[in-house]
Amino acid sequence: MLNEERLFPPDKEFSKRAHIKSLAQYRKIYKESIESPEVFWDKQARNELVWSQPWKKTLQWKAPNAKWFVGGKLNVSVNCLDRYLDTATANKAALIWEGEPATNGTPGEERVLTYRQLHREVCLFANVLKKRGITKGDRVLIYLPMVPEAAIAMLACARIGAVHSVVFGGFSAQSVADRVFDSGAKAIITADGGFRRGSVVPLKQNVDDALVIKGADKKLLTATIESVIVLQRCGNQISMKANRDFWWHDEIKTVSPVCPPEPMDSEAPLFILYTSGSTGKPKGILHTTGGYLLYAKMTTRYVFDLQDNDVYWCTADVGWVTGHSYVVYGPLANGATSLIYEGAPNWPEPDRFWNIIARHRVSILYTAPTAIRAFMKWGIEWPKKHDLSSLRLLGTVGEPINPEAWIWYHTVIGGKRCPIVDTWWQTETGGIMITPMPGATPTTPGSATLPFFGILPEVVDEQGNAVEKNSGGKLVVRKPWPGMLRGIWGDPQRFQDVYWSEVKGSYFTGDGSRQDKNGYFWIVGRIDDVLNVAGHRIGTAEVESALVSNQNVAEAAVVGRPDDLKGQALVAFVTLKSGIKASPELMVELRNHVGKEIGPVAKPDDIRFAESLPKTRSGKIMRRLLKQVASGLEIKGDTTTLEDFAVLAQLTKTDE
Ligand code: WTA
Repeated sequence: MLNEERLFPPDKEFSKRAHIKSLAQYRKIYKESIESPEVFWDKQARNELVWSQPWKKTLQWKAPNAKWFVGGKLNVSVNCLDRYLDTATANKAALIWEGEPATNGTPGEERVLTYRQLHREVCLFANVLKKRGITKGDRVLIYLPMVPEAAIAMLACARIGAVHSVVFGGFSAQSVADRVFDSGAKAIITADGGFRRGSVVPLKQNVDDALVIKGADKKLLTATIESVIVLQRCGNQISMKANRDFWWHDEIKTVSPVCPPEPMDSEAPLFILYTSGSTGKPKGILHTTGGYLLYAKMTTRYVFDLQDNDVYWCTADVGWVTGHSYVVYGPLANGATSLIYEGAPNWPEPDRFWNIIARHRVSILYTAPTAIRAFMKWGIEWPKKHDLSSLRLLGTVGEPINPEAWIWYHTVIGGKRCPIVDTWWQTETGGIMITPMPGATPTTPGSATLPFFGILPEVVDEQGNAVEKNSGGKLVVRKPWPGMLRGIWGDPQRFQDVYWSEVKGSYFTGDGSRQDKNGYFWIVGRIDDVLNVAGHRIGTAEVESALVSNQNVAEAAVVGRPDDLKGQALVAFVTLKSGIKASPELMVELRNHVGKEIGPVAKPDDIRFAESLPKTRSGKIMRRLLKQVASGLEIKGDTTTLEDFAVLAQLTKTDE
């Protein structure tokens, strides 16, 4: 039986109350959205968002540059907070937060912030930023654990028109410095530390280290930083530098809780989020105000079928785009209750998620396939210990979900009653692009199914022509949409080259895909040199340059190999400088070196030392071949262009 024939029809009871009740209704709205996109988006923007000034033109499009709701003004924090203050939502929980349980088993701290309380905190902190000289258009780096203050800091930036760039707490000092340098940030918001599996992640220490890193020109990478605001989370010893470092709790005592929102141009930058590409350093993906918020809001409501009494939990860290759109902006713009959890899924025991779901009566869970595969491995006894009957919808994101994991999620976690939305999207797309509509779209394990309203994806060949049904090709998007990235910070040429040059006039996703006979999309994964390791995007070039920055390394090539748990694992082939000997100690050193340069997520799973790397006559590393070696496959295909056959033998030998 083909996978696509295992269709799971929407549950009738679910459909009755869902926002989109049938496939026919979805198709009708979808058709309108594609045939008259400007009419469609104009209407949505009017209905969904509060504007302080109406727009003159819905879309101004000259590939690759889109402007949405041109001339319109609004403020994101008003749309997430103020608009609810005169409604019943004012006293509803906006954020439910749970900290990591202590090592001794003491339950984690809990905090609930209503919309009114969150509004107050945001206004206070916005005034702190102002006091520290941050104004409209300034960039602010946020490097925090998963605590409510991460959302508060983001919204406070939005309130005064500052542009935030959140850096995942698992990234290194070097990554912080690189991002400050690229964005020209004026301030960093961080914490003394964050709790992770019983230990403290030394965030402030990393910031201190970042603040002394110099570039190749011997100048500080972080010269633009004027202040560092530090949240006290762990109580660990840190150093505070006078006139540069300020405690969050001291600062908010000195300011007023009244902070008028800055009316922002619809196209004003809202945030920059760095993500790996196939070449060079991570690129700063730029999202703007009106279009992004509209898209985040609509996708959250329709894809998760948000209802007023839902307790919604997206387990992503705010350091990733999923945390931006589906922990903070999307849920809050809808007046929903968003749960935030600080710790790891298996700390102190592998039932942390199920424990949280049972206690908070979580009704919507959105997580990554890599987590689901880990839960499968840990065993069914952990979820079975808890009452998961509050769940009514499940989602996945970040990588293709294998059918076994889908079925397990559906059966063990969803009790066979919860629809699963497998959502395909990217940092660049701002929000979910291909997804089932729960209650309307029959689902099938492993397919993200159909496009969201207004989205026109297509699978194309090398020439950019649509391929036949069931043939593989590159996934592109043919029409602009409000949530799309507006550029790469400071690099318009790279923006053009990476996304708009592969297939002229269309957005190139970097993913491969096929469409089945039902028109469902099956995402195969990246077709560029970007790997997806446990749902995290890692550019092979970035890891390679981290490796060669170690004094012992001459050359490095990084490829992926399939991994049962993480989807893909990182394998590095390394040649050493003359006189340096390969050893297990060196392997450890190199892994730690990558951890220091980028962050623990980028540490290679395997390092293999080789005499030299296989190259074509033109000097290009033969990655295809290395991938096969890494996966333990027999070498296939034409190897006659190899410079040196002995190299191959050598590689296969080190394999043993
Ligand atoms: C992959 C995460 C298959 C894909 C939101 C994409 C997926 C990259 C899915 C973006 C899915 C994301 N099925 N693959 N449902 N969702 N991907 O920027 O390769 O961290 O290009 O955004 O993740 O990763 P990013």
